[in-house]
Amino acid sequence: MEKELIIVLDCGGQYNQLIARRVRECNVYCEVHPSALPLPELLAKNPKGIILTGGPNSVYDPESQHYNPELFTSGIPILGICYGAQLMAWTMGGRVETAPVSEYGKTLVDIESNGALFGKLPAQTTCWMSHTDYISQPPAGFLTTASTPVCPVAAMEDPDRKLYAVQFHPEVTHTEYGREVLEAFVLGACGCSGDWRMDDFAERTIEEIRAKVGDGRALCALSGGVDSSVAAVLMSRAIGKQLTCVFVDHGLLRKDEGKMVDAVFGPEGPYDLNFVHVDARDRFYSKLEGVTEPEEKRHIIGEEFIRVFEEEAKKIGKVDYLVQGTIYPDVIESGLGKSAVIKSHHNVGGLPYHVDFREIIEPLRMLFKDEVRKVGLTLGIPEELVYRQPFPGPGLGIRIIGDITEDKVKIVQEADAIYREEVDQEMRRYREAHDGQFPAWRPNQYFAALTNMRSVGVMGDFRTYDYAVALRAVTTDDFMTAESAPIPWDVLQRCMNRIVNEVTGVNRVCYDLTSKPPGTIEWE
Ligand code: XMP
Repeated sequence: MEKELIIVLDCGGQYNQLIARRVRECNVYCEVHPSALPLPELLAKNPKGIILTGGPNSVYDPESQHYNPELFTSGIPILGICYGAQLMAWTMGGRVETAPVSEYGKTLVDIESNGALFGKLPAQTTCWMSHTDYISQPPAGFLTTASTPVCPVAAMEDPDRKLYAVQFHPEVTHTEYGREVLEAFVLGACGCSGDWRMDDFAERTIEEIRAKVGDGRALCALSGGVDSSVAAVLMSRAIGKQLTCVFVDHGLLRKDEGKMVDAVFGPEGPYDLNFVHVDARDRFYSKLEGVTEPEEKRHIIGEEFIRVFEEEAKKIGKVDYLVQGTIYPDVIESGLGKSAVIKSHHNVGGLPYHVDFREIIEPLRMLFKDEVRKVGLTLGIPEELVYRQPFPGPGLGIRIIGDITEDKVKIVQEADAIYREEVDQEMRRYREAHDGQFPAWRPNQYFAALTNMRSVGVMGDFRTYDYAVALRAVTTDDFMTAESAPIPWDVLQRCMNRIVNEVTGVNRVCYDLTSKPPGTIEWE
């Protein structure tokens, strides 16, 4: 049975990935494609609905002129959001103008007509706006369904042609009834039944992998993190021993991580996998010697990873596919869409140009972290692995500012192990005392980083001149934005005491309060 699909056409807005996520929360499968996807290709996917996103352009920019106006007469329900709404208005003969001042932030919107999207909304509601251009006159046949004092057409629709548009952003939580608006479009206007579940994703993906790989062989880059573990189990369900999982110890792992991965995926573990553990520590250290620039480090580590896999692949014989656990935020932040490049995640942007495999398979490419976890659980992967905090591919390499040495790796490993141990212990204590509830400060990711800064201290009666370690903990839903987690002060003090006492080379401990944005979660 063919699955219902909503396609989000990415026009370059910053909230695009959230739209896909919200659609999936309506239990409808959703894919994001570049706005330049040719119309025949788009139609071949047989979507039940299309969402045009916001974006930085004006409809009068040359880029907007490339839109195929037939998109709007295809008969498929379309929802235009922000720039998408303006594009719809302009293409269909309405008028779009530039306002003297932008409308930005939480805005009271008057609902003039319930129409197809606003059935559950009150007469006035708060929405999130972020625009300068606005629709000053809707195209003929459209009904204006909402307005604000400065935006005469905050929403419009032409149900006969199945065209809907909102100037505000229903996908962000600041829009009070955003979920209801998207639900009305997806389940109402598009007529989706909302029967898609994560198990469907696993089943569908397993079938797709089987069909693609046939009797070929695949090699999976297994780090022991959530993403690559879920990718590996998904692949092994699909093709069994045609899959070999390679775990590379690049010398930038957390303390005892190699042993843990061996225990789970090695011959003693529960999975029926071909598993190879490669000790590549020395070759990574020598490639990284003296390198300080973060992007250069990421690229070196990413490239060396691929080289190691290629070598392992050659030992195994003919390998057709390389499997990676890339997830959706990695894809976005690596700038493969239209959004600005923030960091090149080593699974994506760091890939060297000549990869000696027929193709790369990234089965989790469209999923957010929490969705990957759900897939993991449906595949029967143990909870403690599924709920592990994320660990970046370049590992401690991007948690050591400046050049990387074996000694610095050791320092950050030890400090990090103490920090995680203390936080985990406090969390356990709290849960025991509170009926299994997690504390409000529960971080989604917490780790130590080594600043490349040394400062003066005193220990015993001696002057010290040692490194400062930074502790970081963040709360986040999707790792795209994050807040610094309020770890209890006494826990932080215990960590500080233990780190300066137990880790040679450290005489100062700092706590990183920065949210994302403006910071990122990792330090490099
Ligand atoms: P940032 O630092 O970009 O991190 O705010 C967001 C999330 O992504 C993880 N991260 C990576 N994961 N390869 C990965 O697989 C990478 O190169 C990489 N860089 C950052 C980071 O740990 C956080 O969870």
